[in-house]
Amino acid sequence: MLTRFPRLALSIALVSWSALGHAAGKEILIGVAGPHTGSSAPFGLQLWKGAEKAIEDINKAGGVNGSMLRAVKADDACLPAQAKSVANKLVNTDKVNAVVGHFCSSSTIPAAGIYRENNVLMITPASTNPRVTEDENYKAKDCKAITDKAKQEQCELSNYSVIMRTCGRDDQQGVEAANFIVKELKAKSVAVIHDKDTYGQGLADAMRAHLKILGQKDPVLYEGLTRGEKDFNAIVTKIKAAKADVVYFGGLYAEAGPLLRQMREQGLKASFISGDGIVSNDFLSAAGGVKFVEGAFMTFGADLRNVPTGKAVVESFRKSGYEPEGYTLYSYTAVQAIAAAMKGTGEIQDGRKLSKWLVENGADTVMGKINWSPKGDLVKSAYVMYVWDKAGKYAETQAKKL
Ligand code: ALA
Repeated sequence: MLTRFPRLALSIALVSWSALGHAAGKEILIGVAGPHTGSSAPFGLQLWKGAEKAIEDINKAGGVNGSMLRAVKADDACLPAQAKSVANKLVNTDKVNAVVGHFCSSSTIPAAGIYRENNVLMITPASTNPRVTEDENYKAKDCKAITDKAKQEQCELSNYSVIMRTCGRDDQQGVEAANFIVKELKAKSVAVIHDKDTYGQGLADAMRAHLKILGQKDPVLYEGLTRGEKDFNAIVTKIKAAKADVVYFGGLYAEAGPLLRQMREQGLKASFISGDGIVSNDFLSAAGGVKFVEGAFMTFGADLRNVPTGKAVVESFRKSGYEPEGYTLYSYTAVQAIAAAMKGTGEIQDGRKLSKWLVENGADTVMGKINWSPKGDLVKSAYVMYVWDKAGKYAETQAKKL
């Protein structure tokens, strides 16, 4: 008996282990790609924190179809070549099931090609350049005439993109900024500065195009600066000479901060406006203090910290000592969407099946219920104007409904 019992116990344990192993399947791996090092690392942290917390919460609630989720960190440092190499690694070495990221559009666009080729679902919480979801090879196919059922299904599936986002696009964001500049600030002369990058210049151009539609005269200055540099005094001198009353900057906080500081140090009182590239508390330190950022405007999507559906998650973040600012909850949303699609389809790998499910069903998230177009853009997204205050915080100038 003494010898039989452990053997029996062992075989029961083995049977239940393998049954569990079978039911639970293997782990589901979610790549979390973004700038985890370099000057944009605070944004990478927002993406990481959001994804990590969503994974933790989903696992606590039982995982996805019995499998647990695990995050795989991938650092692209916002460098396009590095983004391609980490995308390749995520797909071919780590064999992730889906990806949250990347952050910089200039990284997301080249990486997206790799996810498309390998049919891996990628949801970016933050890349706003229109080209992220505008695949030049995309042409919707009419599959109705195909008689073979399986072939017809494949054809229909190919109309869905594995590249999706939980944020808006710069052709919406630029419009919001231009409207504000003309209608609220009543600008006479606008200087447009950009960082020569896909996102920064793209956003500046989208804003400028809408200024024109609104009947505004051409910018008094249109100038690119170089990412990584800190001394923009020469540009500030040009802005002064051009007598701009509004300075619009397309780019990231690491350059926006010193640019704004040097404007104020040279006595330039022009209003300063930028976009979601400065939605980080690190903008404050990059500028050198509250007195420089106070009054700076910025467009960004709705502040999800104020959305009722996200209340419990926000509280839980704050309890842990982390403030879920900027893109944190957009990243949380991306993981929720991936998990919803996997639950809905019972599929964990086929990116197009997952995106088709999301397009057809939408997802309930901390943002509320969200829906996508087959291209992967949100059907509804609202840009909001924010202002930095004297406490060094940013808040919506007026609340807008999602
Ligand atoms: N929205 C920024 C980009 O697309 C972060 O690069």
